[in-house]
Amino acid sequence: MQTLAVDRLVGRHVLHLTDLSFDEIRSVLDLAAQMKRDYAAWRGALAQRSAVLLFEKPSLRTRVSFEIGLAKLGAIGVYIDHQGNPIGVRETVEDYGRNLERWADVLVARVNSHATLERLAACCRVPVINALSDLSHPCQILADALTLEEHGVRLDSMRLAFVGDGNNVCQSLIDLAAIAGGSIVVVTPPGFEPNAQLLARARSLAAVSGGRIEITHDIAAVRGVQAVYTDAWISMGQTDDPAKRAAMQRLQVNADVMRLAGPEALFMHCLPAHRGEEVTADVIDGPRSVVFDQAENRMHAQNALVALLLGGAGAA
Ligand code: CP
Ligand code: NVA
Repeated sequence: MQTLAVDRLVGRHVLHLTDLSFDEIRSVLDLAAQMKRDYAAWRGALAQRSAVLLFEKPSLRTRVSFEIGLAKLGAIGVYIDHQGNPIGVRETVEDYGRNLERWADVLVARVNSHATLERLAACCRVPVINALSDLSHPCQILADALTLEEHGVRLDSMRLAFVGDGNNVCQSLIDLAAIAGGSIVVVTPPGFEPNAQLLARARSLAAVSGGRIEITHDIAAVRGVQAVYTDAWISMGQTDDPAKRAAMQRLQVNADVMRLAGPEALFMHCLPAHRGEEVTADVIDGPRSVVFDQAENRMHAQNALVALLLGGAGAA
């Protein structure tokens, strides 16, 4: 059952994972697990409700999992393609948001600049959900938290490694460790560490939760972790950079890195993956890989989140 009053999340924006407390994340994950077991009780829970899905960047998982997920709850999702047509050009971000909130119950936005999400959240009375920005990817990490738990990892004592670019996914994974009280070691080449401001915020949360955040350039730091996570070297919207690729090459997650982590370590990736770059095929297609569980769980975690933000978490 829900571990807190479901109405605590109603109407909230979720721009970073740090917009949620550990208790609130717990509620999302508990509801997601219940939905995943059987959607029957939530069919129609969001009947007559609607979401607008605004995407300035490409997507497979996020778009499809939101659209199908909303339909499972009886809501509709209207997708607006903003690739090559950024939000705020045809009309201001504020005018745009104030139109959309008159029709939609929630805005789900994937944006080039996190500032666009902040402007939408500042002007809209309906919840705004970050579906990936240059700074963070909270929906991904909610799904990853569900996946870790399904594989027997406790969030409050987890030991994770993120290997590669200190990017949006890395930053939200750090947030999870900081909120939950787990530990994360981020192994990056020099110059590709996570955003200093976000790191400082995570460190202050970790000081309260008992979480541990370590940033290193030494791959040996993956020893003994429960999961090794990596992501693309070049994120959407970044210019391809041969020097960055060269720096990342020595941090490719291969069989040696997984051996160093230990025989029980899971392999995680938000996808899309680039075999032969950040990960070798034997690792991502091997027995310790949970990447498709992560992808499936996008839908369950997002459904739970949307239901809680819209007050539809009680079974229909
Ligand atoms: N992991 C993820 O967000 O995938 P998409 O870019 O395909 O949505
Ligand atoms: N860091 C990647 C994540 C893709 C889901 C990107 O921003 O492109």
